[in-house]
Amino acid sequence: MSTLVDTFARPLHDLRISVTDRCNFRCTYCMPKEVFGKQYQFLPQEQLLSFDEIEQLTRAFVALGVRKVRLTGGEPLMRKDLESLIARLAAVPGVQDIALTTNGSFPLERVHSLKAAGLKRMTVSLDALDDETFKRMNDVDFPVERVLEWIAESARAGFAPVKVNMVVKRGVNEHAILPMARYFRQHGHILRLIEYMDVGHSNGWRMDDVLTARQMVDIIQAELPLEPLEANYRGEVAERYRYADGSGEIGIIASVSQPFCGDCSRARISADGRLFTCLFAVGGADLRGLLRRGADNAALQAAIAAVWQKRTDRYSELRSANTAALPKVEMSYIGG
Ligand code: GTP
Ligand code: 5AD
Ligand code: SF4
Ligand code: SF4
Repeated sequence: MSTLVDTFARPLHDLRISVTDRCNFRCTYCMPKEVFGKQYQFLPQEQLLSFDEIEQLTRAFVALGVRKVRLTGGEPLMRKDLESLIARLAAVPGVQDIALTTNGSFPLERVHSLKAAGLKRMTVSLDALDDETFKRMNDVDFPVERVLEWIAESARAGFAPVKVNMVVKRGVNEHAILPMARYFRQHGHILRLIEYMDVGHSNGWRMDDVLTARQMVDIIQAELPLEPLEANYRGEVAERYRYADGSGEIGIIASVSQPFCGDCSRARISADGRLFTCLFAVGGADLRGLLRRGADNAALQAAIAAVWQKRTDRYSELRSANTAALPKVEMSYIGG
């Protein structure tokens, strides 16, 4: 077992791999149409890591202590034959957990092929239970019902409980918090309310758009009393609560009002193979270049370890009115 730690003694446990920078949605807080329009230049195929390259990198990360892998994007299901990547990663000794973050907009057969490939956990993004609000946020007219069907099918396929990520924007979908809480409590899934963050620089983030964790808890408590729960593991991003009547669990991700950088053990690989040690980083180390020059596992490990040992990131703890304007990469490129 490796003891690799960064400058704040944080170990490297989670690897989040973005498999594509493309998405079929245009969520206003992530890929607004004005920026990600027809003329937007997505990464060309040859710049994406191949499945072989992703597997090689995963082996190196596992040797350095990674146990959890999450596939993100963009929308990871936009990447052709994602199932074969999952099968390859599931076969890497030491990978204990493989999770997927998806918008749940694909044909339901995919739920079963993902399960068969070895996917362990399913996280689905959904921002409201009413079509008017959801369509306003996804900006491609995608209906709620289809996402609910994906979630239900995931539960039937053995992914229950499904985690449902809801980004909350003040004045846009805060009215959807209670309907979402009621629905997912009743269906046995774990809703996670996420504070809207200043990732990238195309979403026009303002502190005024953030509904804080405290305010979200208050909205729920007014109808459904909550009790705090212990974290499942050190560094968990969501604060967990249970409904006082024992009917289930809900999580709040307070990355703006109560940052959790102190325990951050996550590394991210962008779709073109750069290693980012923070969601808010400006640049990443070029691992694809190393791979394509023939680096072996030991050389990859050395390169990753060198970056991690120098890591000083704690953006969310340092966030201020001024930092929102700093140059940053987009979340669709680096992965949520
Ligand atoms: P589990 O493995 O199920 O515990 O997943 P998780 O709670 O780590 O993750 P998920 O990937 O679903 O993250 C939910 C949301 O939390 C993301 O979409 C981001 O908005 C936010 N988030 C996740 N990791 C980080 C992080 O390292 N920093 C910040 N600031 N936000 C994060
Ligand atoms: N703030 C918070 N979360 C975001 N996501 C994307 N953009 C933002 C943002 N600005 C997250 C959502 C979504 C995942 C793909 O990325 O949780 O579920
Ligand atoms: Fe696509 Fe997810 Fe970003 Fe929405 S939040 S645009 S579904 S990657
Ligand atoms: Fe980790 Fe950066 Fe998020 Fe802090 S802001 S928790 S260092 S990814």
